[in-house]
Amino acid sequence: MTRAGSPRYAGGMTTLAVVPGSFDPVTLGHLDVIERARNIFDEVHVVVVHNPSKTAMLPVARRVELIEEALREAGLSDGVTVTNWSVGLLVDYCQEVGAKVLIKGIRSEVDVTYETPMAIVNRDLAGIETVFLLPDPAHSHVSSSLVRQVAALGGDVSPYVPGAVSRFMASGDFA
Ligand code: PNS
Repeated sequence: MTRAGSPRYAGGMTTLAVVPGSFDPVTLGHLDVIERARNIFDEVHVVVVHNPSKTAMLPVARRVELIEEALREAGLSDGVTVTNWSVGLLVDYCQEVGAKVLIKGIRSEVDVTYETPMAIVNRDLAGIETVFLLPDPAHSHVSSSLVRQVAALGGDVSPYVPGAVSRFMASGDFA
């Protein structure tokens, strides 16, 4: 029984899923989740969303470029579109492209606690279901915020990020 105000899943079987996030920057854990999503869904949209509660390291356009480059280099571009969304709710994007499913990577119970309210709100707003995928445990300690912190203090982030990101962060383009 569904409580009043909590719409049921809005569609039937689906082939498209959206993987949203800040991706500031994209990590090896993100790539792992994108690959797993693509193994299940024919088409995946990776959507870079500006999260106003976080202080950004990279401009959104650069994050999009780095994800595209990382996917290309990992041979994961097929069926994956990378874009950004900054004009309203994430579910508005989903409705615009006809996506009925969001994908979130879950590393630990901390992620479940963080993601569950968002998943329920996105379902309440538009009947969009969220599917939680578990990345390889090898990435369970990796986060963009950890990468930002290591980078800010001059450490080596290459164990945690795709080559495209470590090259960019080592370059003169990254101040
Ligand atoms: O990588 P992050 O920062 O954990 O990603 C969080 C993100 C961007 C997916 C989340 O903040 C989000 O969905 N923002 C879009 C705004 C929105 O739709 N908010 C209402 C429902 S949660």
